[in-house]
Amino acid sequence: MRVIVGLKEMLAWANKMRQQGHRIGFVPTMGYLHDGHFSLIERARQVDDIVVCSIFVNPAQFGPQEDFGRYPRDLARDESLTEKAGVDILFCPRAEDIYPDGFKTRVSVESLSGKLCGRDRPGHFGGVTTIVAKLFNLVKPHNAYFGQKDAQQFVIIRQMVEDLNFDIQLHMLPIIREKDGLALSSRNKYLNDSERKAALVLSRAIKQARGLFERGIRTAEEILAGAEAEIAKEKLARLDYLALVDMASLEAVKVIAGAPVLLAMAIRIGGVRLIDNTIFNEENLWKTTWN
Ligand code: PAF
Repeated sequence: MRVIVGLKEMLAWANKMRQQGHRIGFVPTMGYLHDGHFSLIERARQVDDIVVCSIFVNPAQFGPQEDFGRYPRDLARDESLTEKAGVDILFCPRAEDIYPDGFKTRVSVESLSGKLCGRDRPGHFGGVTTIVAKLFNLVKPHNAYFGQKDAQQFVIIRQMVEDLNFDIQLHMLPIIREKDGLALSSRNKYLNDSERKAALVLSRAIKQARGLFERGIRTAEEILAGAEAEIAKEKLARLDYLALVDMASLEAVKVIAGAPVLLAMAIRIGGVRLIDNTIFNEENLWKTTWN
């Protein structure tokens, strides 16, 4: 595995690989890698002949009161794990190269970026789309892989790729969970023992909602009420939002019909903000929404 830091070096390598006819798979990350990331790397290894993983804790996607300073970082560990996972290039750019003095451009996807997590984190998705657009231009991937845990992020990046004509195939892979249901996240590291137990409320709420759906219930009112009742049982949980939305527009839906619908939530456990989601009618996602 080769580690690339410089932007020019990354670009030169990507151009060379493309000229030689290689297919580049790309897994962008903020590091502190877990099995969720490795499932993306594994898929990239199956689909592409060269795999690039980037690690960049992107200051532009953190609000002033957020955890940029204490976001977990362990480059030595990530380097050894990505090498074992079969990554060909680990791209770790420096913040001063990504955002040099005089940097003025921001890529932002209107409307979608202000919904759900965007309401609590103004500017967050603009930071994400700006860095992802830059990384796409530097790595020049044929395929890029993202996790469903950040489903809204995926919807927004997909819109950006479509609107700006990036010639990149996007893939969204399932949420990877601990045995007890907690969705893997680098931020789980912040949880103490009692918060870790309380954090199971997210997957329990999802289970409750899916149970209702499986029993034939289709109204948002009933499904949301079921999930909310589950959340209310956990004293340490403070709900930021719980929503049932159309997977393309992220607009609230009243009834789950045939189209893919996202049940998404953000919950604060102590000082830690966690997100989780599930998709109803997922089998229709790429057929009807993103065909
Ligand atoms: O999902 C993440 O880890 C980040 O938002 C991403 C896509 C790497 C952009 O910084």
